[in-house]
Amino acid sequence: MTGKSKQKVLITCALPYVNNVPHIGNIAGSHLPADIFARFCRLAGHETVFIGGSDEHGTPIEVSAEKLGVDPQTLCDQYYRVHKEIYDWLLISYDNFSRTSLPIHHETTQEFFRKVYENGYVVEGTLRLPSCEKCGRVLPDRYVEGTCPKCGYEGARGDQCEKCSSMLNPGDLRSPRCAICGSAPVFKDIKHLFLSLDKLEARLKEWIEGNRDVWSPQVVNMALGWIHEGLKPRSITRDIKWGVKVPLEGFEDRVFYVWFDAPIGYVSSTKEWAQKIGKPEEWRRFWQEEDAKIFHFIGKDNIPFHTIFWPGMLMANGEFTLPYRVAGLQYLNYEGDKISKSRGFGIFCENLSRTGTSPDIWRYYLTLLIPETGDTEWKWREFQERVNKELVANLGNFVYRTLSFTMKNFDGRVPGAELSGRDRELLERGKRYAEEVGNLIWDIRLRDALKKVFELSDEGNRYFQENEPWKAVKEDPERAAACLHVCANLCYDLAVLLSPFLPESAERICAQLGMEVGTLEDVGQARVEAGQELRDVRPLFPKLDDKKIAELREITSSVTEYEEMFKVEEEYVSYEEFKRLDLRTAEVLEAGPVEGADKLLKLKIRVGGKEKQLVAGLAPYYRPEELVGKTIVVVNNLKPAKLRGEVSEGMLLAAVDGKKVALLTPDKDVKSGSKVE
Ligand code: 2FM
Ligand code: ZN
Repeated sequence: MTGKSKQKVLITCALPYVNNVPHIGNIAGSHLPADIFARFCRLAGHETVFIGGSDEHGTPIEVSAEKLGVDPQTLCDQYYRVHKEIYDWLLISYDNFSRTSLPIHHETTQEFFRKVYENGYVVEGTLRLPSCEKCGRVLPDRYVEGTCPKCGYEGARGDQCEKCSSMLNPGDLRSPRCAICGSAPVFKDIKHLFLSLDKLEARLKEWIEGNRDVWSPQVVNMALGWIHEGLKPRSITRDIKWGVKVPLEGFEDRVFYVWFDAPIGYVSSTKEWAQKIGKPEEWRRFWQEEDAKIFHFIGKDNIPFHTIFWPGMLMANGEFTLPYRVAGLQYLNYEGDKISKSRGFGIFCENLSRTGTSPDIWRYYLTLLIPETGDTEWKWREFQERVNKELVANLGNFVYRTLSFTMKNFDGRVPGAELSGRDRELLERGKRYAEEVGNLIWDIRLRDALKKVFELSDEGNRYFQENEPWKAVKEDPERAAACLHVCANLCYDLAVLLSPFLPESAERICAQLGMEVGTLEDVGQARVEAGQELRDVRPLFPKLDDKKIAELREITSSVTEYEEMFKVEEEYVSYEEFKRLDLRTAEVLEAGPVEGADKLLKLKIRVGGKEKQLVAGLAPYYRPEELVGKTIVVVNNLKPAKLRGEVSEGMLLAAVDGKKVALLTPDKDVKSGSKVE
């Protein structure tokens, strides 16, 4: 299946709501596994499209926007960019990352609905909807809390119980209360549209049972559990303004329930991709042809929507291919507890790009934590250990010792030699690995697949050690040459096999070999020929010491609040007020520490003819010797103040970009004391 017969594969990742910054749980729980899978499919030569996008409708977004005092579109525009940058930084290789607020999505959803309606799967009915008299609003599903009628969990929400994952309606909850103010809501009958899931029950059951060989038992059993309870018509419209308008007379002022339009986002994102590549009809090959295999990567709370509701929508529409595999993942916890943004407890991805690290070290550990079968947990200590022992000491060491030895002893060219049986066997070993790794990935056992690749690196290290090329190069140069020839090929095979997991490192290994990352078929084929010239050989990963871990921990635990992230201060300053500041250039004559204050530096500066002392919080960003001789800009007439016993007669100007601080310096040579205006 994997490397052999070519498939047509569409991969989707649950579309994230864009009302906050993603954390590592979101990455390990959907984007990363979907990306590894997509990269592998491309490597194996399958026709592959990897689709994502943002889920911009629904109550969570509307309520967040309302709380922040912005319109939902602005909120989504801003967070969309943040999300996109994070996925790009983590090398999540979406072929298209769309948005459900785009016209293409609204049109696709409305067209999809019309067909479902024509086919007779939409019925009108009334919904007893909760409103809160104290808050003065109809309460969206998620804003009603109460006791789950199925499992008795007291914190269940009106759309779903987090504990048992059941899909609920607000009216199902026992002892309901308003999630905003806690008072008991009043229920009123309101006319709405429903999807007749009841009519689809038998077909859904048959379909789910038919998937037993492909889906994980966990997902099949959950889905059958809900079927067993009996499917009821499910409301698909809402009384809010933000969303896709319902194209039906009498319902023009309603929008679709977000879970109706969101999965259609997979289709509209594929359509957008097809338009972008200049083949607007190409999406049909993935959505409307029987041989296409659609893989959905989702978190466990999304399982009912992807095994019942969405397939039900697809059946009701009748023109689409049903999902091939629903990969439902569990949760990633953090240091013994749930990730919590409000407590700053977890790793939030907005500052990852400022850590000065390779995305691959995060991808590596997070792959080992993909919650495939049960919840998993991030532990900093384990992260440090695994990076140092496995990436640095195993993989990094094997590649570096092979390539640097070749640089030093064979003039930077991969040697050729007479190979022994054992050499040849190892040279071809990659083929078996490619097959095994391929099977594991196709089965979405990504952690095992990555561990398998590392076994090849272990073998390489052992073989290098046994052959002792450092001795052989003097005593038996032919043996040393054979060993290095085999090892260079193992490096290449490792790079190709690792490329779905660690794409940046794979590229770097191949670049040092003077080659490009090939395909799965190149593995075990001795693609690195004798005479191949190496380039710019250097270690792949630096070791993570305790200090670096502490720094990473600090950088990644902070979340910038929305106001700080996006709002530009709009208060004006008059020209007269500005004129009162005497801004001047100054030369730094001396710089040194301030006793008892880690963050402060004491500067002696010259402003024109006058020498002054400044105290500034620059120690984390500059070494004193870097400052001496610089021309900086200071507020010359700031009232002198004492900091830690040292007088500061002014203030210097610097640009602050999160954890990065850069001093302002004039871009031409100017006299010290020049006015800045
Ligand atoms: O749970 C969530 O974050 C949803 N935004 C997932 C949507 S998946 C798909 F249907 F779009
Ligand atoms: Zn209320």
